[in-house]
Amino acid sequence: MITEESEKQACVESLKSIQENALSDDPYLAVPLNYFLKIKVKTYGCDIFIKLNKTSGAQYIKLLPKEECFTRDDLKRYFVSGLEQVFILRAQFPNFLEKFEEIEIPEKTSEVLFSESLKINRKQLDVLNIDEMVVKMVEESVAQMMKNVGQKNALAVFIKKLQEESLSYNYSRVYLITLLMFKVLDAYDWNSISIRKTITFACFFHDISLNSDEFIKIKSKTQLEKVELSKEEKDQIYNHAAKSAEILDKFPRVPMGASTLVREHHGVKSGQGFTENYPANLSPLTVMFIVVEDFVGEFLDFNQDFSKSKVEQLFDNLEQKYSKSVFCQALTVLRLRILQQE
Ligand SMILES: [Fe+2]
Repeated sequence: MITEESEKQACVESLKSIQENALSDDPYLAVPLNYFLKIKVKTYGCDIFIKLNKTSGAQYIKLLPKEECFTRDDLKRYFVSGLEQVFILRAQFPNFLEKFEEIEIPEKTSEVLFSESLKINRKQLDVLNIDEMVVKMVEESVAQMMKNVGQKNALAVFIKKLQEESLSYNYSRVYLITLLMFKVLDAYDWNSISIRKTITFACFFHDISLNSDEFIKIKSKTQLEKVELSKEEKDQIYNHAAKSAEILDKFPRVPMGASTLVREHHGVKSGQGFTENYPANLSPLTVMFIVVEDFVGEFLDFNQDFSKSKVEQLFDNLEQKYSKSVFCQALTVLRLRILQQE
């Protein structure tokens, strides 16, 4: 089990090895941004630089001065936009290391923050053909949703928890589903601002009634039957789509259609149980959501190998799985949008 103390030690040890392995004449040391995201602190005791490779040679630009206060969220924004490592002056490295030994690691996040495979990074966005425009649209839509949600209610509590654990499996999952839903939307004539609001709400809250990544990963009747859980836990999973929709229904500012989409997100109109025999009267939006969620779940299991060929293989596998024509069409649109065969 990873404890806070063992995690701190592991970080300090690996940072020391970064220092030892760096070229001795290089005044800058490259440090993965992930290290900064592990710790709760306002300043790091060192200037933080990014490196630009120019034809005239490398140029280091100061990103954050050492005396400036900033939060983990500031750094997360860089991280999500694709920055994976920053640079510290070798002379300031001991100050950084010292800070690291003193600091408090945020509670509950230690294990997920260590997991390289669970973060959304540039590599994942590139292989999915998601450009900055889509990321920006999603960010704006999420900001708008946060305003709508307000504070001190079940949705606000859930979203706060999700964002605090923003490198967790579930955050990566809902964020990627939202990105891909936005990505495929412009292939449809029902694309609109109000649909995008509905999608953002549904993406973020469709599993609000589940409180474990293990439960979220269960997506079929067979998986639910096989898993070793108590009857109460199995009931919770069985009823989660209906329960999540119920939570949304209690909230006055939910965009039109969001709770229906949430109730039907496993293809069952009542929101209870799972099916592979999808009813014919699901909306095109629900069909697309089911396909995108399925794709994202499989994609996040790639374990770091986010290559085009793996994505193609994944589409081939999913094509075997879906027989109904509306699902095949949705999958084809997704495939074209991701693999740029437009
Ligand atoms: Fe679900």
